[in-house]
Amino acid sequence: MSVSFRCPHCGQPLTGEERTLSCASGHVFDRAREGYVNLMVGGRLPGGPSGDDDTMVRARRSVFDAGCYGPIIDAVAATVQSAGAANVLDAGCGEGTYLERACSAGAQGWGIDISKVAVKLAAKRYPRCSFAVASSYRLPFDDASFDAVIDVFSPRPFDELFRVLRPGGVAVVVTPGPGHLAQLKALLYDTPRPHEAEEAMPPVHTVQHVRFTVDLGEPSLRRQLLEMTPYWWSAVPERQALVEATLASVDADMVLTTYRRP
Ligand SMILES: C[S@@+](CC[C@H](N)C(=O)[O-])C[C@H]1O[C@@H](n2cnc3c(N)ncnc32)[C@H](O)[C@@H]1O
Ligand SMILES: [Zn+2]
Repeated sequence: MSVSFRCPHCGQPLTGEERTLSCASGHVFDRAREGYVNLMVGGRLPGGPSGDDDTMVRARRSVFDAGCYGPIIDAVAATVQSAGAANVLDAGCGEGTYLERACSAGAQGWGIDISKVAVKLAAKRYPRCSFAVASSYRLPFDDASFDAVIDVFSPRPFDELFRVLRPGGVAVVVTPGPGHLAQLKALLYDTPRPHEAEEAMPPVHTVQHVRFTVDLGEPSLRRQLLEMTPYWWSAVPERQALVEATLASVDADMVLTTYRRP
């Protein structure tokens, strides 16, 4: 089945020219120079989520480029590829590396994120995939469009993710495990809280624990790891300096869960 973005005004398919996308009712969306489209109608609501900022997005790109998250990026790609997915959506795709890797065997990749800076960076580096600024709570796609949906550390509105999955399609979800970045949190907080378990979810199909050690021997990586997490906002500067000065490695503990749409 061929996938297209859906018009956020009237729900009809958007078809593409080089510079614009438009629907049969005449709603027109310009493509940015990098090739993505902004499908957030009316912009975001005051006080509403704006997604990750430039510092967070660039820090995540640097950490991925250094190979620090290779095991989880590879695990997501292997899961999507073993499902034989031809059309793949990454909801909350960030700077796009997970999607690109998942589609490296030839699948068609679609990425959306509410952060314009993230989508811009993704589209610029990964022109083989299609990207849009949009919300995971209102995905700009028809029902049953995708064989697989990826969601890594991003909001998980399961009803909406399942709406765009075909029956039998798979949602590949990555969440932090209890020991994720434990040494980092121990340096930042006196009483580190473990990551909380999930709330309401559909029945689980498979669960895989992905644990690895991230080498932070290069001091700039310590800073970037901080910047790509919420700890950048929440921890006091003296503790962040302690992380930058001393944290030579940290454990990653992630849970890769798959859910099948009935
Ligand atoms: C922790 S980052 C993960 C990004 C990417 N999946 C990765 O692992 O590299 C969370 C992402 O969710 C995005 N986000 C937050 N709220 C969103 C929403 N309502 N719809 C789509 N994306 C959203 C943020 O902009 C950010 O890129
Ligand atoms: Zn329209």
